Amino acid sequence: MAFKIKNASSMLLFFFFLFTLFSNIACSPFNTEPSGGQWVQLQRSIGISAMHMQLMRDNKVVIFDRTDFGPSNISLPFSRCRFNPHDMALKLDCTAHSVLYDLSLNTLRPLTILTDAWCSSGALSLDGTLFQTGGFNDGHNKLRTFSPCPQHPETCDWQELPWNLTSSRWYASNQILPDGRIIVVGGRNSFTYEFVDPNRIISEPQNPNSFFFLRFLKLTRDSNPGEENNLYPFLHLLPDGNLFVFANRRSILLDYTRNHILRHFPVMPGLEKRNYPSTGSSVMLPVNLTGLDDPARLPEVEIMICGGAFPGAFTLANTDKIFVEASSTCGRIRVTDPEPEWIMETMPFPRVMADMVLLPTGNVIIINGAANGTAGWENAANPVHYPVLYKPDLHEPLSRFEILAPAKTARMYHSSAILVPDGRILVGGSNPHRGYDFQAYPYPTELSLDAYHPDYLGPEFESLRPSVIAVEAAKNTASYGANFSVTFSLRVLRSVDGISVALVAPSFTTHSFAMNQRVLLLHVSAVEKVAPFEYKVTARGPPSPTVAPPGYYMVFVVHAGVPSVAIWIQVK
Ligand SMILES: *[C@@H]1O[C@H](CO)[C@@H](O)[C@H](O)[C@H]1NC(C)=O
Ligand SMILES: *[C@@H]1O[C@H](CO)[C@@H](O)[C@H](O)[C@H]1NC(C)=O
Ligand SMILES: *[C@@H]1O[C@H](CO)[C@@H](O)[C@H](O)[C@H]1NC(C)=O
Ligand SMILES: *[C@@H]1O[C@H](CO)[C@@H](O)[C@H](O)[C@H]1NC(C)=O
Ligand SMILES: *[C@@H]1O[C@H](CO)[C@@H](O)[C@H](O)[C@H]1NC(C)=O
Repeated sequence: MAFKIKNASSMLLFFFFLFTLFSNIACSPFNTEPSGGQWVQLQRSIGISAMHMQLMRDNKVVIFDRTDFGPSNISLPFSRCRFNPHDMALKLDCTAHSVLYDLSLNTLRPLTILTDAWCSSGALSLDGTLFQTGGFNDGHNKLRTFSPCPQHPETCDWQELPWNLTSSRWYASNQILPDGRIIVVGGRNSFTYEFVDPNRIISEPQNPNSFFFLRFLKLTRDSNPGEENNLYPFLHLLPDGNLFVFANRRSILLDYTRNHILRHFPVMPGLEKRNYPSTGSSVMLPVNLTGLDDPARLPEVEIMICGGAFPGAFTLANTDKIFVEASSTCGRIRVTDPEPEWIMETMPFPRVMADMVLLPTGNVIIINGAANGTAGWENAANPVHYPVLYKPDLHEPLSRFEILAPAKTARMYHSSAILVPDGRILVGGSNPHRGYDFQAYPYPTELSLDAYHPDYLGPEFESLRPSVIAVEAAKNTASYGANFSVTFSLRVLRSVDGISVALVAPSFTTHSFAMNQRVLLLHVSAVEKVAPFEYKVTARGPPSPTVAPPGYYMVFVVHAGVPSVAIWIQVK
């Protein structure tokens, strides 16, 4: 302390001074920043811009952008330089365009991607191998795989299959199907879908004639040059095994086994377009199996789509650099109802190019994006720094959206966000430029990687956080309809009813759409106390592969809204 206190009254005065100082800090009228959650920068630069992200079952994240952006900020040894006569930016390229990020060590390793994977799609197979499809230029019809290698973490890299997709798939979307195949839908000027079978494609070429025309993709394409608004169609596998497909403002239920449209859903209200380049985002809200006593009954599900852009916004942005305000609406529709209707809601901010991330708690976080403009080169302004929490429970009509702590970094075109096993959201990317431009003002090519820590990771929730000790499951899998149990420790049990078990499928995320993202709140049949501060919860595996397509999922035990760190389990 820099000064002496002479007597009791000045001592009192001093404490009064301290008190007013601190109470002013605590309730300053200027301190109106929302406080939900916290941002942490993990890496100032990962060398590339996180355009596409996929979490793998060994807690590593495959990140890549595109091979024809020019030189990235991460060098490869000379032996791994890529000479490609077709490359549009750099024929001899000794920089990486993909990295493998290790979540637990916060380290990364450059990977070698062989052809251009720009604006591509992907999905995981049953064993957790990434099947990545399409791209641009010499990569437009390519199939690539990346297999995790926990035993040899320094060696695994991209593999390219010697044969091609049936069609060019640039801006296509993928969905894992109940039989483990992957459906790849659309792409620029590709009004078709095809299937990739991970069990066969490694050894047998794709039959070049096995694609299916889907007129819906053509009808939903806007014809203004570049406008389109039907790319990266939103796909969600519904519990009856059919595929929900949304493009522009319209949606259908597709029986892909017979190439037959079973239903047309009502057109989404409002003029806004929701798909690229008017990029909104879409999720299937968490599937609630907790109250489903009869496993043979199919759960009801809702799709929720947020943000997007108004007709003509792309052309104004692209040709005149006028950035129209984005859509501020979300619509949700109970697609399992016989006569479903859209329920429209208004977000606290207009938003285009936002990511929607499902949390194990059953809530949704809307993150990244801009308030003006559209996707495309230099086409947006006014980044929205505030994530927003959405609570799907319709019984809480007044407080469904909550504004969260703002990010420092603008994350617009070519940014991404994914949930990781410790409950954080990994956020990276943003590059509205045709090449890497690290000096551009105000929106440089963003190489940094951040983590957003939702509120539930705060120290005040530590005593309520379950910590998984062991999983008991026959053959270590959560088999369809079979019980499995999770033992966990917990310092303060608030209520047994407040314990849930969530399965979360890791998504392939790019261009604001998290392909294959899925959260299932499982049916819990028992919670027992097994030792002081130790409990065992018995949950029923998902009822069928249509409700949960096979593959690796993260299992979270959630107590009083606070999730454990997840462990991985195979569902099959
Ligand atoms: C790119 O790399 C160089 C050297 O490795 C570094 O000095 C520079 O700050 C990096 N740029 C960015 C934007 O990270
Ligand atoms: C795959 O497509 C490329 C063109 O993108 C073509 O050159 C190549 O011959 C095709 N490969 C096969 C096995 O059809
Ligand atoms: C799930 O359904 C059960 C019973 O139908 C209900 O009590 C519970 O509130 C629901 N949970 C969520 C997160 O909606
Ligand atoms: C965003 O849109 C609003 C409403 O149209 C407009 O007033 C504002 O100027 C726009 N901002 C930018 C940066 O273009
Ligand atoms: C699952 O466990 C519950 C209670 O622990 C039991 O009642 C039920 O029969 C079990 N189901 C199966 C399929 O084993």
